[in-house]
Amino acid sequence: MSDEYVWFEGIPFPFVNFPPEHLRNVKENFVLKDEDVLILTFPKSGTNWLIEILCLIYSKGDTKWIQSVPIWERSPWLETSNGYKLLKDKEGLRLMTSHLPIHLFPKSIFKSNAKVIYLFRNPRDVLVSGYFFWTISNLVKRPESLEQYFEWFIQGNVAFGSWFDHVRGWLSMREKKNFLMLSYEELKWDTRNAVQKLCQFLGQKLEPDELNSLLKHSSFQVMKENKMSNYTLLPSNLLDHERGSFLRKGIPGDWKTYLTVAQAEVFDKVFEEKMADLPQELFPWK
Ligand code: A3P
Repeated sequence: MSDEYVWFEGIPFPFVNFPPEHLRNVKENFVLKDEDVLILTFPKSGTNWLIEILCLIYSKGDTKWIQSVPIWERSPWLETSNGYKLLKDKEGLRLMTSHLPIHLFPKSIFKSNAKVIYLFRNPRDVLVSGYFFWTISNLVKRPESLEQYFEWFIQGNVAFGSWFDHVRGWLSMREKKNFLMLSYEELKWDTRNAVQKLCQFLGQKLEPDELNSLLKHSSFQVMKENKMSNYTLLPSNLLDHERGSFLRKGIPGDWKTYLTVAQAEVFDKVFEEKMADLPQELFPWK
């Protein structure tokens, strides 16, 4: 297996499942329906946690779906060939996930009323989480050290490109009625409140016992045990389960354990340069 990326329009993609002709087709031709619900994230921002929550919202807290169908089939990734096949002719509710930056996303999004949730996370934690994940996966060029991955991340030479461009691009939609931005931190610090906000956005109502069930079954510990959600079903040639878990720590602020003071200072400077013109209250970890 190659240890490099597949490149499409200047963005590096994992080697498996992302042929450029497919990415072009998705961008040009995939038509969103107004009833679609989209989960958009930069990888390692809590994507799968949000999928689990949305599945439990639509199941009214019932666990049958999340315990019987792999997470990548419940809310398939539009940009993967397998995900696209599951989505294209699906009737009824289409939950879908994507890590695509806005300029590679199906153009139909700009005319659609599909509900879009953009989940983002402190990029320092995204960096650390990504470093550990890509080190145990066999989908992209493996970093040899955190120092190396730090440089790649700052330069945007990681899967799906620059975090800074991704967030800037998608946050440009934040005034739209069908767009909800949510942070991993907000979700973690007050999950109940964040789920209620999600329900309101989606026009869904949960009874108190349904909400309690959702909170229990989407918690880090329970998700870590759910084989339909913890990625242990992936073959070990794609994810080396001996060397680590997909659900690693699940906390905000873990970057402080790994980044040096000097790296943290460099990161602050880059963040300042690239994001200074956005309202800083958008970033709750500050
Ligand atoms: P860590 O590596 O910091 O633990 P994604 O789904 O976008 O790939 O994001 C993965 C990150 O979300 C991992 O972060 C993972 O542990 C965390 N995560 C997954 N499920 C979670 C949950 N139920 N609660 C909190 N964090 C969760």
